[in-house]
Amino acid sequence: MERTLYWQDDCLYLLDQRKLPHTIEYFKCTDYNEAIDAIKTMVVRGAPAIGVSAAYAMALAEIHGEDLNVAADEIKQARPTAVNLFWAVDKVLDAVKNQKTAVQAAIEMEKEDIEINKKIGQYGNEVISQNDTILTHCNAGALACAGYGTALGVIRAAHEANKNINVICDETRPVLQGARLSVFEMQQENIPVRLIVDGAAGHMMQKGLVDKVVIGADRVAKGGVANKIGSLMVALAAKRYDVPFYVAAPISTFDYESNIFDVTIEQRNRDEVLKINDKYITKEETEVENPAFDIVESDLITGIITEEGIKKAL
Ligand code: MRU
Repeated sequence: MERTLYWQDDCLYLLDQRKLPHTIEYFKCTDYNEAIDAIKTMVVRGAPAIGVSAAYAMALAEIHGEDLNVAADEIKQARPTAVNLFWAVDKVLDAVKNQKTAVQAAIEMEKEDIEINKKIGQYGNEVISQNDTILTHCNAGALACAGYGTALGVIRAAHEANKNINVICDETRPVLQGARLSVFEMQQENIPVRLIVDGAAGHMMQKGLVDKVVIGADRVAKGGVANKIGSLMVALAAKRYDVPFYVAAPISTFDYESNIFDVTIEQRNRDEVLKINDKYITKEETEVENPAFDIVESDLITGIITEEGIKKAL
């Protein structure tokens, strides 16, 4: 698997996820404003990867002698829903107060993220049975993290344990993280994978063709989990057809302060919905709603797989 991101010669390199799976190209960030733009425009995306990139954005600010508190406020504006962004920036500020450099803190965070995901994979593997078909939504894989992945980390661990699993990826309109990124990751690992349109998830569950759902999270808070738009519909269908519904997320995605319904749901550009491959699929003037995330309520969630074991939703 290509690295999601790396730090070299005082620059941050991000695998440009807008171009996957057809083009492998790294986007170079030489200052923190470039890193902010990369997060906003989804060169890099996925809650833990946004967090680690934000930490490196702080590192870039430090190298260029910028005021770290000003940089922190600006970096936190990049995207509103994934709590890892705020957690990571605050963690770097704390590290700097404790005589570390921001660069050291970011490098440590990147390493720790991969270790955490492997632990999530081990705990998650315990709930996966031999020959399971697992449905996932969006991309909570190596590409959404420093490496290995959360939901796809569970799938990787089950595959490494020779469980003969099959994966179904929702395409995940409008940015197609499922079709472009999760399918790509599964193919790279030779894990059997099928792609479905988002609207087919309920049908597959009604037919008894899904044994478990495993998704990631942008934020876990009191009352439920925020994740990619469409997660709620998958969870409702899973409840109806008695399919266990797991969320895989590191503790850094937990927000113990907020109620999940108070969290800002990012509204993205209308063109994401109006266009496919740069071509309008409907009249340009059509009104659009484009919420990027929705809320899966706690009672729809079987368990949250973390690096500390499987927890109940808050
Ligand atoms: O808009 P994105 O692509 O950043 O949304 C990503 C998701 O919703 C993921 O499921 C979530 O961040 C978990 S990533 C381990």
